[in-house]
Amino acid sequence: MLPGADSSSQPASSSRAGGLLRDQIGAASRRLLIWVFAGGVVAAVAISALLVTIGERIAETRHPYQLLVAIDEDTTDPAEWGINWPSQYESYLQTTDWERTRYGGSDAVPAQKLDSNPWLRAMWSGYAFSLDYRQARGHAFTLHDQDHTQRVLQREQPGACLHCHASVMPLYRYVGDGDEMEGFRRVSAMPFEEARNLADGAGTPLVEHPVNCNDCHTPNTMRLRITRPAFKVGIRELKAHEGIPDYDVNRDASRQELRSYVCAQCHVEYYFEPESNVVTYPWSQGLKVEEQEAYYDEIGYSDWTHAATGGGMLKAQHPEFEMWSQGIHATAGVACADCHMPYQREGAQKVSDHHVRSPLLNVNRSCQTCHSVAEGELRARVGTIQDRTEALIQRSADALVDLITVLAAARALGADSDDLAEALQMQRSAQWRIDWVYSEGSHGFHAPQESARILAEALDLARQGERMVVEQYAGRLDRASVEIPPPYAVTPDSLAPGRTGPTVPIRGGR
Ligand code: HEC
Ligand code: HEC
Ligand code: HEC
Ligand code: HEC
Ligand code: HEC
Repeated sequence: MLPGADSSSQPASSSRAGGLLRDQIGAASRRLLIWVFAGGVVAAVAISALLVTIGERIAETRHPYQLLVAIDEDTTDPAEWGINWPSQYESYLQTTDWERTRYGGSDAVPAQKLDSNPWLRAMWSGYAFSLDYRQARGHAFTLHDQDHTQRVLQREQPGACLHCHASVMPLYRYVGDGDEMEGFRRVSAMPFEEARNLADGAGTPLVEHPVNCNDCHTPNTMRLRITRPAFKVGIRELKAHEGIPDYDVNRDASRQELRSYVCAQCHVEYYFEPESNVVTYPWSQGLKVEEQEAYYDEIGYSDWTHAATGGGMLKAQHPEFEMWSQGIHATAGVACADCHMPYQREGAQKVSDHHVRSPLLNVNRSCQTCHSVAEGELRARVGTIQDRTEALIQRSADALVDLITVLAAARALGADSDDLAEALQMQRSAQWRIDWVYSEGSHGFHAPQESARILAEALDLARQGERMVVEQYAGRLDRASVEIPPPYAVTPDSLAPGRTGPTVPIRGGR
């Protein structure tokens, strides 16, 4: 090896010598130099081949997988991966199970949230979302539930919806002629039906499966990786905002970070850029609720116009990653996967539980690996946090409904959006904050103090706005005759996405 290393340095020194000595060296020595150079190249090739082999050996010992079938980037059927990795696949299949917790878990027929929380109808008056908004359930349902929601069946939606609900990367590559980013942009802009039903040249459908192994893993080595374009762009903007330029998540993130980032590909606040429908994460000013609000204010974005007040409103999606970022567990380096995909022993092996679900259904492995506290005690801690969050949500929602009511009463007196500008801004800010906490999956647990802070602000903003309107129209407001337009007909459970049809076998409930 050493002689090879020596001669591989020859090309550099020979070219340095070249300019000075060219005239003095005879043809014979030039030939010698060429031989030495060629020898160096051969040696260099041999060494890099050796290094690659060593690298592969190391990778093999880190990923000692016996592959029974070949898997590649286009293998979107989890069952095929399951032949190589049966334990992970088996637990993935369990995401079709259902079991409720007080505020989370999942149902056979996902509950209609608008029935359990009537104030949502006033809050979302005029928004298509209020058509059909249900409890989330497991990953095996992501595509099925999207196909069957009345939001897709009764409204035009863009191909952008598929970004987080399907194993979509082969579609992006196909549509982008090999360029995933370009394909992502083109698919986002397509009508949903068109993107959903695209087939390749041979007629094979490109979108067939829900969230799949290759969305989080590099085939065969099974290294964690990020696939979703909107996350790659969003995290780069966030890091730039934090003073880290040119961030490439797959190059720069640690393994522990990836154990959260793989989830943050989808469990985040997002919007569709109005011109292009491109899925965008509003992170260039930071992750916090007011930083995202500042982002939307700056670009003048609203999701919909409130039917009772005429105000431009923001609909929060599912900011689990953002909320978690503000909590003590994130600060302590505890990742999403630590609680939602805990290790389980299988003989001598440690296997990550791919039955991603509420950790309260699995406190033993989700929490007690770190907290040597009795299970009942841990449940009670979570219950207290969630009940307090719930109480604050209800209080701030009451305040918001009062604000909406006086705004509508002022409208009835002929007030226009200019007259009410400041109070409408308060409605927008309060609505955004309540929605952010309400739509976040953990009901306060991911960051209890942050949730309480946000709701306290919402309560204050709503009451300030109400007082403002009351003072402006002193004595003339007729609250009693206000009617807040009902949202679009709420879909009955008979039309809910049922238990038929997801692309993995159905298991029984418990
Ligand atoms: C310290 C443990 C912990 C960490 C870390 C954590 N979670 Fe959670 N998560 C919980 C608990 C507890 C709940 C509440 C479950 C319930 O109410 O049944 C929850 C709820 C959820 C829910 C709603 C589940 C349901 O059943 O409705 C989602 C989605 C979620 N978390 C995603 C994430 C994501 C994404 C991350 C990382 C960005 C994360 N969680 C980090 C503990 C954790
Ligand atoms: C490709 C997008 C995507 C990725 C990546 C993803 N999720 Fe999800 N997740 C979803 C969608 C969509 C749903 C809702 C499915 C439904 O209701 O049909 C969901 C549902 C959930 C639920 C609710 C399950 C239940 O039983 O109620 C939890 C918890 C959850 N995800 C946690 C995570 C965690 C933790 C990670 C990372 C390890 C993760 N998700 C990665 C898209 C994703
Ligand atoms: C940025 C990723 C992302 C995009 C884009 C996205 N979703 Fe989701 N969706 C999720 C996650 C995560 C969940 C589960 C968490 C929750 O429901 O709060 C979910 C849950 C759902 C559910 C089940 C719960 C419910 O709300 O009834 C439906 C239906 C749904 N999405 C439809 C859509 C439609 C329609 C679009 C396009 C307008 C869309 N999604 C775009 C990530 C996404
Ligand atoms: C939402 C993201 C996500 C999806 C989808 C996913 N995994 Fe994983 N997987 C993880 C995480 C996180 C780990 C832990 C990796 C680590 O800590 O390095 C993991 C670990 C693994 C490992 C390493 C051994 C272990 O259990 O820790 C294997 C093998 C694996 N997954 C197989 C699969 C298979 C097969 C599928 C599809 C049926 C799948 N995964 C789907 C996130 C995912
Ligand atoms: C990987 C380790 C780990 C896991 C898993 C984990 N935690 Fe923690 N938890 C921590 C650490 C570290 C802290 C911070 C302790 C400190 O700094 O005092 C913490 C803090 C807490 C706190 C105190 C919060 C506060 O504001 O004082 C509660 C409550 C808690 N965890 C509950 C849970 C529950 C419930 C689960 C399971 C859903 C869980 N933890 C899972 C490591 C973990």
